[in-house]
Order: sequence, then structure tokens, then C-alpha cells
Amino acid sequence: MAFSPRVFSGIQPSGDLHLGNYLGAIRRFVPLQDTHETIYCVVDMHAITVWQEPNDLRRATREVAAAFIAAGVDPKRSIVFNQSQVMQHAELAWVFNCIARIGWMNRMTQFKDKAGKNSENVSLGLLAYPSLMAADILLYKATAVPVGDDQKQHLELTRDIAAKFNNDYAASIVEQGLDPDFFPITEPLIAGPATRIMSLRDGTKKMSKSDPSDQSRISLLDDADAISKKIKKATTDPAELPLDVEGLKGRPEADNLVGIYAALSDKTKAEVLTEFGGQGWGKFKPALADLAVAQLAPMSGEMRRLIEDTTTIDGILRDGGERAAAIAEKTMHDVRRIVGFIR
Ligand code: TYM
Repeated sequence: MAFSPRVFSGIQPSGDLHLGNYLGAIRRFVPLQDTHETIYCVVDMHAITVWQEPNDLRRATREVAAAFIAAGVDPKRSIVFNQSQVMQHAELAWVFNCIARIGWMNRMTQFKDKAGKNSENVSLGLLAYPSLMAADILLYKATAVPVGDDQKQHLELTRDIAAKFNNDYAASIVEQGLDPDFFPITEPLIAGPATRIMSLRDGTKKMSKSDPSDQSRISLLDDADAISKKIKKATTDPAELPLDVEGLKGRPEADNLVGIYAALSDKTKAEVLTEFGGQGWGKFKPALADLAVAQLAPMSGEMRRLIEDTTTIDGILRDGGERAAAIAEKTMHDVRRIVGFIR
């Protein structure tokens, strides 16, 4: 194999982390530490593509780092850092801005959703966002990226950028004596029962930081009481739980809650339905609330403690930043030669 198995993933420090971020991404970071070299990044440069109050950004950056650690990411085994510390992210993103086409960026559904009718008036950074994301991943020549379903299109674009770079600069790459497959074609890791956790109020809407209703999401900083109340109040249809996964079709709220139970208990939806199929919400919701509290409340306690301990968190980020920069500079050194920059 030309590339050793290396995982990279990132989370934006742009508001409260929620259950979707945890089940779709952070929880899945932990076991990958056993099989891969793992790099987990707090993407503060992505966050400022929309306005962030500086003190809020600092607090949110520490909060994401605290969530990684509280969830079981080991900062000795993994590299944990914030993006802005490693200037090569911005440098490679610029090269990729000159590889990617504006048409590719305009097609991104996340850009269209975020820009809405206001697309002339959003930051240029928001349009170029996927180019910086490709730089995050390819700077480390990551072979696999664990994310939720909403990042799929961005990862396809990362593959397109890698392929176009390898192709446009093919002659130069060979001339510099480097592997013709200079950048890997990265695999998305989007799997399991929780790739798209939905709002607790509306099973057709994604659970998101920007939903105005606090009841729509479980925040990773919620205490046991809040977690339990939100689950018990979650919107559901009146029917009992189906006996098999097929029966979840057309029942988005039921599908979502069964998916959350499955992800929290490391089971499949089918296994959850073997246990609860045919039962009513009066049985299932309390069981889900107990499970969620048992799993999430200790983590939120640990997060709260770590967020206060800024010396420890900042030390972890600084150490991670140094280790990340060593890898990033190697790649960037080659990229500069390939592109024709003199140093
Ligand atoms: P962000 O910060 O919006 O979300 C972080 C991670 O959480 C996942 N996620 C969800 N998963 C399941 N259900 C949901 N409702 C849900 N909401 C969010 C996201 O898919 C993501 O995995 N562009 C990225 C950050 C990024 C990145 C990267 C990721 C920057 N560079 C390089 C991977 C590799 C983002 O905005 O994620």
C-alpha cells in the first residue's frame, strides 16, 4: 500500500456541540485509534467563514477539544489540535483554490443552504470552505475520514481536487522524483445507524447547531435531567415500534430514535427492534432516556471540568499543533516544489 492508514476529521467550534456531532463523528473517532494513525482537528478557520465573536470562538475551540478528550480520544495516541496553529492549512488551501473550479463550489448544497437568498453577501471564505477542508485532509495524506452524511459532498470534492492536482501536475511530480499518486483518493467513512441524526421536534429536519429550538437537540453539555426531559418530550407518531427495520420506512421520528438507541448501545437498528418491536413509546422512551443519560451525563461532566482547565486543554492543543505541523510541512515542502515556487 502506498499510503499508510491515516484518519483525519474536523469539527467546527461554532456553537453548542450536539448528539448528532457525537454519534455521527466524535464517538466514532475513538475505536479508530486502535487501527489507524488518527488526527482530530478543531477547525477554527472554517468557523470564521461566518462571524464569530472572538471570545466565543476561543471558548468553543476549547469546548470541542474537551469533547474529544471526554469522549475517549487520547491526546497522546491521537494528534488533537486547532487548525489555525498550523499555517500550512491556509497555504495548501490557496493552492487548491487555484485547482478547484468556481462551478464545483457553487454546486455545494451546504453552501447553497447556508447562503440562502443572500449568496452575493456571504463571505468569500464560505464559498471556498470546501477547498480548505480538502487541504485539511490532504495535508496529512489521510486515507479515511469519519464524518456524518452531510459531509459526503465535501469529501467527493476533496477526491476531485486530489485527482485534478495529481493530473495537472503529473509531469512536475515525476520530475521532482515523487510518487505520481501524490495525493491519495480519500475514503469517506460514513456508516452505522447514526450518520444523520434528526431533530427531536421534527424527524424530517437534521439535528443542527443552528435550529432555534433548544428542544430540537441534545447538547453535549446538557445535564442528566435535561437529556431525559428532551427525550421524553421528543415528537413521535402514535403507532407502536415496528418489528423490523422495513417498518421504520415513512416514520422519520421512530427511525431517528431507534437509530439513536442503536448508536448509543453499539447495536444495529434490527437488534434494537428485536428487543423493543411491538412495544409502545411509554416503554421505549424511558429506556432510551436511561441509556442516553448513562452514556452522555458522565461525558458532559468531564467536558465541563476540562473546559475550566484551560492550561491543560491549551497544552494539549499546542502539543498536537507541533506534531501536526511536522507532518504538514513535509507535504507542503513537496507541494511548493511541484507547483514551482522557489524557496
Ligand atoms: P461540523 O462541525 O458541522 O460537524 C462535525 C461533524 O458532525 C457531523 N454531524 C452530524 N452527524 C450526524 N447527524 C447530524 N445531525 C450531524 N450534524 C453534524 C458532521 O457530519 C461532521 O462529521 N466541514 C466539517 C468540518 C471539517 C472537516 C474537515 C471534517 C472541516 N475540515 C476535514 C472532516 C475532515 C463540518 O462543518 O462539520
